[in-house]
Amino acid sequence: MARVLITSAIPYINGIKHLGNLVGSQLPADLYARYMRARGHEVMFLCATDEHGTPAELAAAKAGKPVAEYCAEMWQVQKDLSDGFRLSFDHFGRSSSAQNRKLTQHFARVLDEAGLIAEVSETQMYSHADGRFLPDRYIEGTCPNCGFESARGDQCDNCTKQLNPVELINPRSTISGSTDLEMRETKHLHLRQSTMKDRLEEWIDSREGWPILTTSIAKKWLNDGDGLQDRGITRDLDWGVPVQKGDAPWPGMEGKVFYVWFDAPIEYIACAQEWVDAGKGEDWARWWRTDKGAEDVRYVQFMGKDNVPFHTLSFPVTILGSGEPWKLVDYIKSFNYLNYDGGQFSTSRGRGVFMDQALEILPSDYWRWWLLSHAPENSDSEFTWENFQASVNKDLADVLGNFVSRVTKFCRSKFGEAVPEGGAYGPQEDALMAELTRRLGAYQGHMEAIEIRKAATELRAMWAAGNEYLQDAAPWAAFKEDPARAAAIVRLSLNLIRLYTVLSAPFVPDAAAALRTAMACDDAWPTDVESALNALPAGHGFSVPENLFRKITDEEREGWQAQFAGVRD
Ligand code: MF3
Ligand code: ZN
Repeated sequence: MARVLITSAIPYINGIKHLGNLVGSQLPADLYARYMRARGHEVMFLCATDEHGTPAELAAAKAGKPVAEYCAEMWQVQKDLSDGFRLSFDHFGRSSSAQNRKLTQHFARVLDEAGLIAEVSETQMYSHADGRFLPDRYIEGTCPNCGFESARGDQCDNCTKQLNPVELINPRSTISGSTDLEMRETKHLHLRQSTMKDRLEEWIDSREGWPILTTSIAKKWLNDGDGLQDRGITRDLDWGVPVQKGDAPWPGMEGKVFYVWFDAPIEYIACAQEWVDAGKGEDWARWWRTDKGAEDVRYVQFMGKDNVPFHTLSFPVTILGSGEPWKLVDYIKSFNYLNYDGGQFSTSRGRGVFMDQALEILPSDYWRWWLLSHAPENSDSEFTWENFQASVNKDLADVLGNFVSRVTKFCRSKFGEAVPEGGAYGPQEDALMAELTRRLGAYQGHMEAIEIRKAATELRAMWAAGNEYLQDAAPWAAFKEDPARAAAIVRLSLNLIRLYTVLSAPFVPDAAAALRTAMACDDAWPTDVESALNALPAGHGFSVPENLFRKITDEEREGWQAQFAGVRD
């Protein structure tokens, strides 16, 4: 059995995430973590809130709260929502933790000792109207690369180019809208990424089987030289990790903090330290230090495509450049965007369905199933209410839910609430087992490869195969002539419910838990279909579960369509 370290891109603290954010990192990471655990691997699944930077400062100001207090509250909100969606993190940390502060300052020291940090005197945008230096994200303008008019100072969301605010054409303050900006002199630290180009290229080339989306973005920035320009890693802000060389002050850097994108990925490591300090585990180093056992760990990261440059270039520079034996990522699973009903989800404009709203309308399994089975893997995908209603009603209610309900109710009425004995499996069962064997192999292959849509397709096909079998074998008809035959069909079908429970748990964990209770069964992953379909012996008691999934009515769908057509404040 292997050890698998899984991290999801850590969500910004300011505000509740929408379903597009959720499906772009945390949810697929959870699917994979649950699957790997179910297969008996030792899993460490980490996530946290990304708390530093101006967005947090400004959101706190808007909420009329001190930033530390605002972050503590929003962490709890995000934690509760991630619990609501059953995200099975081993720890949900905070990038503002003492552990991350210390580790970030440590990395700065060792990178400096390795000659990878330069002190640079630079001119920075100062806004007279706002009375402050403007951090990158609070400057918008036209992208010099693609002409997009709302490119941010740090990155263009249209072409993903990492930017420096001075490169923007027609820059303006997003705080006040003012264009009365002046370039002023100030000193900052730069990470000398450019000196690491060859090492990074070699490392990326040595990665096997990475998704095309990941490597194409990495290669693009590497080969343009663009992604590897030296990057400023300090900012003029109050809220963040104070610039220090380890424990020692950094002369000339008083009052500055590290750039949020410098400390955020370091939180992946610090989060494991927080996990230990919270008393949840003993040893973080065996996950993160290759001199302490992490050599055997497979490390998989999940993120949206806009995060790829930071994870393929910037963070590896921190890790490799430190010269210390930290674990590097083995596989990066990245996602395109999920759109909402003919446009984009937008946090700033409040467009789309947000995590809290989603859970107010329906249980998390409904969302998990739709989002994962429509994950934007190979291209952007789109949420529409029609499609959501159709998937839930068909896949969950008509196929899986209906199968469970028909089988358990029929058994109760004819044989009682225990697996019936008598009869034998015949050709129909053999044919079903052959199909399920093939599909189970495919399902496992797709889950290993993190091909989420393909995995969902196989799972759905296994549910459908059970329904077709039941329809053809028709135990209600067989019962009249040959009750023993009906008993065999029901016995197999009850075992099939157990098998579905195990296989579906990574996608719909609540339904799986309810079924496990009703069927009084274990959750051992099948070694082969035949033995799995004999796991529950005759006489094994069960109870008819509550209706697993309800259907979404047309009225509800129309109501939600209208409710979410506007923007929320
Ligand atoms: N907060 C960032 C976002 O939501 C992701 C940070 S990932 C990390 O896009 F690597 F920096 F941790
Ligand atoms: Zn652009």
